[in-house]
Amino acid sequence: MLDTTLDIAPLANYLGFLALVCYILTLLPTSMRIVFPQTKQTEIRKILLKNRREIGVIAFVLALGHGVLLVAKRTLDFTDSHTYWIYVQGIVTFIIFTLLTITSNDWSVKKMKKNWKKLHELTYLALFLLVWHIIDKMWGHWTHLTPFGMVGIIGIAVLFIARKWKERQNQLSK
Ligand code: HEM
Repeated sequence: MLDTTLDIAPLANYLGFLALVCYILTLLPTSMRIVFPQTKQTEIRKILLKNRREIGVIAFVLALGHGVLLVAKRTLDFTDSHTYWIYVQGIVTFIIFTLLTITSNDWSVKKMKKNWKKLHELTYLALFLLVWHIIDKMWGHWTHLTPFGMVGIIGIAVLFIARKWKERQNQLSK
């Protein structure tokens, strides 16, 4: 029979979930402005936009804790390529978070010029890697956090697709 009970989430999962929430908050202001222009002047959007860098850094720290706890829980053989394949989405997403955190300062924006924007577009690759990460890693053993995480990551992915579609429409109508 199908087991529909949800597991209690351990600390590592809480950290991953909170990292996800912070990450989603960094993406919301831009996508909301394009898809729902009427939200442009809302107070919450202004607050998120103003604190975006700090929220991103918090997401990085939480993701670091999440990854470290989950890796420490298992005895892993780092000389075996299979190990990297199991964690590929988590590791690549974490590398992206690290690059974005290191370059989230005025100095990097100035130094990197156009390349800064290109690098920070990697945040959207992280978005789709996280959809895969959560579905793959939680398959068959959801915790009580997983339904919220799923709604969050799939919701922001749909919003992002709607944003790209709207940007294309705007370009075509110019
Ligand atoms: C970098 C950003 C990351 C985010 C935002 C993230 C987020 C999440 C979330 C939300 C879950 C589901 C938790 C739940 O529903 O209870 C999860 C599960 C998991 N994550 Fe991550 N993760 C990240 C990186 C990593 C890294 C670097 C690793 C390991 C190298 C990793 C390993 C795992 C594993 C093994 C699970 C399944 C946990 C279980 O079986 O209970 N994640 N992650």
